[in-house]
Amino acid sequence: LYIVHIAAEMAPVAKVGGLGDVVTGLGKTLQKKGHLVEIILPKYDCMQYDGIHDLRALDVTVESYFDGKLFQNKIWVGTVEGLPVYFIEPHHPNKFFWRGQYYGEHDDFKRFSFFSRAALEFLLQAGKKPDIIHCHDWQTAFVAPLYWDLYAPKGLNSARICFTCHNFEYQGTASASELASCGLDAQELNRPDRMQDNTAHDSVNPVKGAIVFSNIVTTVSPTYAQEVRTAEGGKGLHSTLNSHSRKFMGILNGIDTDAWNPATDNFLEVQYSANDMQGKAENKAAMRRNLGLSSADDQRPLVGCITRLVPQKGVHLIKHAIYRTLEMGGQFVLLGSSPVPHIQREFEGIANQFQNHEHIRLILKYDESLSHAIYAASDMFIIPSIFEPCGLTQMIAMRYGSVPIARKTGGLNDSVFDVNEETIPHQIRNGFTFTTPDEQGINGALERAFNFYKNNKESWKQLVQKNMNIDFSWDSSASRYEELYAKSISRARVQAS
Ligand code: ADP
Ligand code: GLC
Repeated sequence: LYIVHIAAEMAPVAKVGGLGDVVTGLGKTLQKKGHLVEIILPKYDCMQYDGIHDLRALDVTVESYFDGKLFQNKIWVGTVEGLPVYFIEPHHPNKFFWRGQYYGEHDDFKRFSFFSRAALEFLLQAGKKPDIIHCHDWQTAFVAPLYWDLYAPKGLNSARICFTCHNFEYQGTASASELASCGLDAQELNRPDRMQDNTAHDSVNPVKGAIVFSNIVTTVSPTYAQEVRTAEGGKGLHSTLNSHSRKFMGILNGIDTDAWNPATDNFLEVQYSANDMQGKAENKAAMRRNLGLSSADDQRPLVGCITRLVPQKGVHLIKHAIYRTLEMGGQFVLLGSSPVPHIQREFEGIANQFQNHEHIRLILKYDESLSHAIYAASDMFIIPSIFEPCGLTQMIAMRYGSVPIARKTGGLNDSVFDVNEETIPHQIRNGFTFTTPDEQGINGALERAFNFYKNNKESWKQLVQKNMNIDFSWDSSASRYEELYAKSISRARVQAS
């Protein structure tokens, strides 16, 4: 198949969180399975340009409509992780992707509706005929209505549209009049069975639009797919998802097992594998040295946490776990940053409090190489999310031999299984889980993990080694996407005949 992903992120060159990992990991796996896969991204000024190979501008420019005028877009092409990527650089006076950051601008709705339309315009003008156009999250959700309203009639009609929602918290809702900028008919679409927001009736909701107008709608784990179909979990979209349930399903993400491989990881002080664990101890020693943590007792467990610091991730529980770890005689390393100013300030306060502490370190920034070092150095890894569509850090942690302590929600519920849970087969038990999102909940799981670590050394080692051998690759999940794509294409053929 010919599959085009239109997305706002792609690891490692334009990554904010897991979305970037998924676009690359799924894309690479589909390519390996023999499909032609291309990615379309905005050309951000703040990308990691050294990760893009053979970047060059195409000779032709693409003209796209916005706010009643036509604008030129320069198209760049390059290769990222072996995947062909087209980057769209609009010549628009608002310099949409020249802002020093990916998201969080006052005009994000305009920036990404512009991008969605320009991406389709590029496919049309370049004569490309993908079988599948796969868009992700609200930023490229506009592709679905744009495709059926404007581009299928113009001849870009070979494709089926797949939309993956990585997080229903972010829906991109805006006043209905904003929709007209990208050429969509705001009046037509601002209806309850189309894009009208289910609670704010003068607003349009891009995610709702993509659910209504796509042929395939997925989210990133089976448990989260159930949760979002309830009033408590659906962030206002449960009724829409229930009306479109036949085309909606949850597929658990994988991780890119080439990028996340302790046996070949160049970011690590020492590489290691499940059969050769000495290297893991050396990474722990190196981390303690590099961060100025005490190495007096090498039996002291090191707890890691790598996350965007947003309420979804259970920031109050992360904070609590730092103090509790200290009380229980562990060490804690947090790597995270927050787009929410008061949360960032609060963690800066804690970081300062522990600035020279021998057991605690908080590093409040985005740092790819340090993230690899922490996965490798830590013995345990906490993910106390309030909700979690999939979560990748628990899988990466296991691959690096760090045992997850996670709240049972969303994709965590589908990938972390408690060592003491009698109803779960022994061979898939891999971590410590808790249910109630409060201090008692996380205390219980942390304490069980510490006791296990201290009192059952041999079993702990076996658990770590077993976890490192779990198959978290994209292979089986990518096959699920292949099946959905194929089914949707054959359904279209039947309808056409
Ligand atoms: P989300 O997408 O909700 O942020 P995921 O668990 O799906 O959560 O993915 C998070 C990804 O971002 C992981 O690859 C993780 O290692 C990475 N990450 C998160 N915060 C940081 C940070 N401060 N520095 C480096 N990598 C980070
Ligand atoms: C979102 C979710 C996260 C998921 C990621 C990739 O950012 O918060 O749970 O793993 O997307 O799908």
